[in-house]
Amino acid sequence: MEKSSGKKNTAVLISGRGSNLKSLIKYSKTKKSLIRIVLVVSDKFNAKGLNYANKSKIDNIVIKYSNRKNFEDRLLKLLKRNNVDLICLAGFMKIISSNFIKKFYKPILNIHPSLLPKYKGLNTHNRVIQNKDKYSGATVHYVNDKLDSGKVILQKKVKVLKSDDVRSLEKKVLKIEHEIYPKAIIKLLASD
Ligand code: GRF
Repeated sequence: MEKSSGKKNTAVLISGRGSNLKSLIKYSKTKKSLIRIVLVVSDKFNAKGLNYANKSKIDNIVIKYSNRKNFEDRLLKLLKRNNVDLICLAGFMKIISSNFIKKFYKPILNIHPSLLPKYKGLNTHNRVIQNKDKYSGATVHYVNDKLDSGKVILQKKVKVLKSDDVRSLEKKVLKIEHEIYPKAIIKLLASD
């Protein structure tokens, strides 16, 4: 941890659009931010989110995912070199191994577009609509060795209207995601 400012060195892992990365960068630039984003890692060369890292002059790198072991070995080295204390998964589409979690030994967070434990995995909005649920939402949780199953840090609900389709629900939930990811980090770190 960077002692002079007390901010946690944070790495954000992405695979695509990067709208959650954008919201985390925005938060990290606020005066009271508890994190400093020192690294953005993508497993995809064409991840749009890399543009947000570049715009804000945050070190970023693509680690090609040939296999899990190679990827995670390279990632661990990079995290060490950058003194990373916190990992935020933000639309990172690969599963992280329990070996990696053990070796990193510091918090890893993820954001998921449903009210976990409901709708782990993909296509959450579609399943919510098919099941005619009245509410959906987003969850920030710790990453453990089971998919979308770690302890919940923060959750927020949105109402699902009869008129909602996958697109409109995704939009609503994404707005909530951008709000709760920074809040979850504050909740986690404020007591440190
Ligand atoms: C978000 O819905 C997030 O909850 C899920 O993947 C999506 C990523 O979106 N894990 P973005 O890349 O942050 O825009």
